[in-house]
Amino acid sequence: MTTTNPESIPRSEALSEAQTQARAKLVWLRPGKKKVIAVGGLKGGVGKSTMSVFVALVYAVHYGLRVLLVDADPLSQTAYDWHRLAKKKGDPLPFDIETWPHARVGQRVLDDTDGYDVVVIDCGGESSDIFGSAVAVCDQVLFVTSPRKAEMRRIKGSLDGALSAARDRIAEIDAYVVFTRVKNARGSHNEAARDLVRGAGYDLLGSEVPDLVDYEDAMETCPKDLGHYLNLVETLEVAA
Ligand SMILES: Nc1ncnc2c1ncn2[C@@H]1O[C@H](COP(=O)(O)OP(=O)(O)OP(=O)(O)O)[C@@H](O)[C@H]1O
Ligand SMILES: [Mg+2]
Repeated sequence: MTTTNPESIPRSEALSEAQTQARAKLVWLRPGKKKVIAVGGLKGGVGKSTMSVFVALVYAVHYGLRVLLVDADPLSQTAYDWHRLAKKKGDPLPFDIETWPHARVGQRVLDDTDGYDVVVIDCGGESSDIFGSAVAVCDQVLFVTSPRKAEMRRIKGSLDGALSAARDRIAEIDAYVVFTRVKNARGSHNEAARDLVRGAGYDLLGSEVPDLVDYEDAMETCPKDLGHYLNLVETLEVAA
């Protein structure tokens, strides 16, 4: 992994008190270390790009870190468009964006992300080559899905397939299934979906995102409220 320029860690006097306190909980944070998170998942609008944007936002706003979001989805450039349109409307997102929608994305992250503390890669859901390339250079994987029956039916095959590219590294990285767009969280169908993921041998992140119109409306804006994604990132940090 390339070394981050120590200057990339913003000087402590530029941080708010809340950001300083939040940072103290990041055990990995030190000059020269960069955290890479690969976000992948099933095809179709399960919420991967929304998850990627909010996770990047949490690291930028709550922790005051320098963040790059990489849109590596070869089919739809939702993250890139979100970033571009928010900026055009005068409401820019507080992190940078690159579009690297190809299987060399992992190498680009190694070679061309000096100066960032956190890199989030939205891998889309179409290409196991792209996902594998990102997973090969990442510290953590979020496999995003909604606990709907149709998605649960294919989850084991999809997870096995998607993560097989990274089989050699799977012991070194933390890979989590994350539920988003959850309706009626306490419903028995959701409990069955959680059991199914755990039964298939995967770690289910203990923090979920509900299906809320606020998150749907967030697209193409810079959300002012980090919502459930703050707790999700905090859970990810504790789980690491
Ligand atoms: N937590 C949520 N609550 C409600 N709506 C959501 C939530 N997350 C995402 N959405 C909405 O679901 C739709 C799909 O979301 P998104 O584009 O993030 O999914 P995706 O998995 O990246 O899709 P694609 O496969 O097309 O890249 C969008 O309309 C988005 O606003
Ligand atoms: Mg997407």
